[in-house]
Amino acid sequence: MKSPYIGSLTPNEVVTGQFLVLSKEVRHKRTGEPYLTLHLGDRTGDMEAKMWDNVVEVIDTFNRDDFIKVKGLLQLYQNRTQFTVHKLRRLEEHEVDFTDYFPCSERDPEEMFRDLGAIIAGLANPHLRALLEAIFSDQRLASLYKIAPAAKSIHHACRGGLLEHVLSLCGLCRAATSHYAASNYKHIDVDLLLAGAILHDIGKLEELSYGRSFGYSPDGQLLGHIVIGLRMVGAKVEQIDGFPPKLRTLLEHMIISHHGELEFGSPKVPIFPEALLLHHLDNLDSKMDTMRRALNRDGLVESEFTGWVAPLERVLLRKERYLNDAGAQRDAGPPAQAETPAVGAETKPPAPAVQDAPSKEIAARAPGQPLAAAARDPRPAAGEKRPENRPLPTTPFGEKLQAVLGLEK
Ligand SMILES: [Fe+2]
Ligand SMILES: [Fe+2]
Repeated sequence: MKSPYIGSLTPNEVVTGQFLVLSKEVRHKRTGEPYLTLHLGDRTGDMEAKMWDNVVEVIDTFNRDDFIKVKGLLQLYQNRTQFTVHKLRRLEEHEVDFTDYFPCSERDPEEMFRDLGAIIAGLANPHLRALLEAIFSDQRLASLYKIAPAAKSIHHACRGGLLEHVLSLCGLCRAATSHYAASNYKHIDVDLLLAGAILHDIGKLEELSYGRSFGYSPDGQLLGHIVIGLRMVGAKVEQIDGFPPKLRTLLEHMIISHHGELEFGSPKVPIFPEALLLHHLDNLDSKMDTMRRALNRDGLVESEFTGWVAPLERVLLRKERYLNDAGAQRDAGPPAQAETPAVGAETKPPAPAVQDAPSKEIAARAPGQPLAAAARDPRPAAGEKRPENRPLPTTPFGEKLQAVLGLEK
């Protein structure tokens, strides 16, 4: 097991640790000398890093998706964490344990795969069962399905995340079918719905790359998971004798319509009950996971509200704090929006500042509070939608908070 993990780091700390390089960019100072902008990660989180000095010696020794050992100083700078690398060495694969570096589902993939097998074995429709058995007895597809994430970053973005998402979705499908059956709604074919749930995102096996850091494959960039999934299922259907053509068309419709709307990438909207249910239950399951992950993260501001959650386009209420917390925090509104530095205005942080005079951000953090809890940047990341109607704190506590964070107008 590696040590330390990003989630346990605290600012004003010299760190020696091993991390995965999520991105690497070479930039130049005004003097023309190169410096490195890195994004480093492990299974507990990620952080920005800069290497300002002695860059020429290491610049060509590593790339994105390599593992590196670094020594450096962690600081809070302009309300964001920044790790300044002083020493760096590329690690060989035999020096690392992959499970330390990639977020994984909390469930065992083999156990989840057995659960999926039980759902398939329980299907009464012999054609759908034969199709799914053909897909999951393909060793290559089965091994990919056990480790694929359900998304690059938004929901179930972890190894095994697709399987976790699909099993959760199957549970929702069964519950919805029972509910409507009890309400005398006789038009739901649970086998078709479950087959659609199991196959709707199968294109993600090829759309995403997840050997190391998550990204999009060339096919994923060019085609997307709906088209890839359609191809994969079509190829397997061709191998099954007597698969009814109309059943194939229904399954294909469920795959292509599962995003629900044309503007979300579906070329057709759902036009029969199983397809409509699949779309809404898929949407529900992905949003619930996004919300769970956002609520599990801690924020810089000890408020009842999270920072801006871009995929959901809202801040979230931590209702336990709202219901139970006493004192000043009760008056804190949604967290303040930090000013975004101008593009190109990036400057080297004052390296020794944390040792001389603690910055306002560091002073605001309780001693020993972990980095993940102390320094969540409330700003939307590049490319994310900036909240327009998000209220700023107007209470006395909110004003104090803005003053502490240096956000006074
Ligand atoms: Fe999808
Ligand atoms: Fe999905």
